Amino acid sequence: MPLRTIITGTGSCLPDRVLTNFDLEKMVDTTNQWIVERTGISERRIGADGEATSDIGLKAARAAMEAAGVGPEDIDLIVFATITPDQPMPATACLLQAKLGARRAAAFDISAACSGFIYGLSIADGMIRSGSARRVLLVGAEMLSRVTDWQDRSTCVLFGDGAGAVVLEGTDDTASGVEYVRIHADGTLWDMLHIPENFIRMKGNETFKVAVRTLEALVIDTLRENNLQASDITFLLPHQANERIIRATAERLGLPMERVIMNLEKVGNTSGASIPIALDEAVRSGRIKRGDRILLEAFGAGLTWGAALIKW
Ligand code: ACO
Repeated sequence: MPLRTIITGTGSCLPDRVLTNFDLEKMVDTTNQWIVERTGISERRIGADGEATSDIGLKAARAAMEAAGVGPEDIDLIVFATITPDQPMPATACLLQAKLGARRAAAFDISAACSGFIYGLSIADGMIRSGSARRVLLVGAEMLSRVTDWQDRSTCVLFGDGAGAVVLEGTDDTASGVEYVRIHADGTLWDMLHIPENFIRMKGNETFKVAVRTLEALVIDTLRENNLQASDITFLLPHQANERIIRATAERLGLPMERVIMNLEKVGNTSGASIPIALDEAVRSGRIKRGDRILLEAFGAGLTWGAALIKW
């Protein structure tokens, strides 16, 4: 059985339509200045009519598979992290399996909101190291615009649509790969952030405070459990919810912002897609290089949260 799980390819897809803060000024009582100061977000992408979560997931998946040099028949398992599935049933992972022609792959969705990618990474790592799957396609994709109340200024300025994907495989080389992954939940706080009927409802300020507190403890625990110092981390790659939350986490770690990967200015909060989109951009631009150690962290509805360490 393989000793480690490595990411052999990354991909992402952002819908073409850009919705800027200035567009939002015309839709709700808000200003570009408020949104930038309170969140760090300037624009986000919105899926086209008829474009489904599985469609953008497919584009991200194809890009990741091409980068990994694998075909549809090479995939044993598709894990799809989303809170905006095409339909409640069947799993969007199954729709993606059909679109890809990945006939050998088992397929299921996971619902862990913004922590979906870290949850998926934990599952993929476990399945690969136990010998249950050789190659896993992990996709995080969301059409949050479909569950956004465009009349609620406290949430509609935050979210965007997008997809990211990675291909994971086993290796016996312990010099690289997933070094650590840990996931958590607290269902007693389910009502901080939920979709009671059609739209996302969030106790924004309370969620903000719990997020900062939880993530600060999470990154410090991650270092401690792995006997690492902040200087051992090349990049912090956080879930892209709010620049102020990200800055607080980096500060607690003592990491300068040059060592934080952040793209929320252009994409907003894409929930389960946010980490794999930012990862793909950083890999393709050459910012993340072989030998770098990346600390991933996320916090979201559930509540759920989690962290991972990856040596590239
Ligand atoms: N434009 C202008 N004013 C606004 C807007 C807006 N878009 N939204 C809210 N306001 C107002 C409020 O009405 C309030 O006014 P009041 O003081 O007169 O009552 C004031 O701004 C302050 O509102 P707060 O909610 O206290 O603002 P806060 O600084 O907390 O920022 C935000 C709001 C950005 C939503 C922040 O709370 C946040 O980022 N929360 C956490 C989000 C998060 O991490 N979610 C988890 C992941 S998401 C997932 O899992 C899908």
